[in-house]
Amino acid sequence: KRPAGAPDQALARPVGRIGVVGAGLMAGQFALLFAQALRVPVTITDLDQGRVDRGLAHISADLDKQVAKGRLRSEDAEAVRALITGTTDKADFADADLVIEAVFEELSVKKQVFAEVEAVVSPECILATNTSSLSVTEMAADLQHPERVVGFHFFNPVAVMPLVEIVRAPRTDDAVVATAFALARGLGKTAVLVRDSAAFVVNRVLLRLMGEVQNAFDEGTPAEVADDALRPMGLPMTPFTLLAMVGMPVAQHVMESLHAAFGDRFRVSANLQRLIDHGITGLWARDDDGGRTIPEETAAL
Ligand code: 3HC
Repeated sequence: KRPAGAPDQALARPVGRIGVVGAGLMAGQFALLFAQALRVPVTITDLDQGRVDRGLAHISADLDKQVAKGRLRSEDAEAVRALITGTTDKADFADADLVIEAVFEELSVKKQVFAEVEAVVSPECILATNTSSLSVTEMAADLQHPERVVGFHFFNPVAVMPLVEIVRAPRTDDAVVATAFALARGLGKTAVLVRDSAAFVVNRVLLRLMGEVQNAFDEGTPAEVADDALRPMGLPMTPFTLLAMVGMPVAQHVMESLHAAFGDRFRVSANLQRLIDHGITGLWARDDDGGRTIPEETAAL
């Protein structure tokens, strides 16, 4: 069944080679997913060789973990590893059919990245953004071919979260949206077509919940109490565990975008900001047995 609003799948174009701009944790996760699920060559790029190498090392460690858990044969891991390369030169994207960016969540940075990529790729190459909160329309506005831009929003952890939000901007071509749907299907994900509005659908709803938890935290409810209270409510992950996984600075940034778009329905937590200013990205990590580990530097605050 065709998802609501999705264009005719016959319009989808083949994607034989993928470029990923950004080699951070999330970018690495979907670079790996592309290579593993689609068996196509994937090239990641970042500002310097150190970042590229760290990104490749994370991908490699993830593959090793899958082998150690008996989920992947080591020869398959080697085949996937061989498909993923790193570069600091976007010119290496010249043959890409699709380039997806996952760089810092700042409109000017993303626009600059797309302008640089457009200068080296073919006119048919699709430019996708993994933005969680910025305007896809504005991201495309100054390009020669704005019709090639589409939002392709993954969720953390990329390997297991089943959803992708596909964001259509007013000028996005039907063939580009159809290709995004085909790509999501190839990755084993469920895709939904969403409007280009701040934080789309999922983060908008999720952050209303998270925002209220953060309000309680700001008003004096300890984070452990809020987390324990929510634990039996059937959420797949408790709020502060989720914050640690996404990274508190990223989550705070998304909240700022929502506040800018919708005002006081979304409020940035002063208490979380204090922790972020101390360099803390999460209050605790999730143990293998589902428990919490509170880092010493956090416990001291
Ligand atoms: N990477 C790869 N695989 C992972 C993983 C990770 N980080 N975390 C868990 N998994 C796998 C496990 O290995 C396991 O696979 P298996 O069944 O084959 O062994 C499977 O996922 C289930 O994991 P667990 O049994 O350990 O634990 P859970 O049942 O708690 O499931 C979860 C883990 C799927 C991550 C679940 O806790 C969950 O859905 N959490 C909520 C995540 C969420 O809300 N994400 C959205 C965040 S917002 C966002 O990303 C938007 C962005 O724009 C900011």
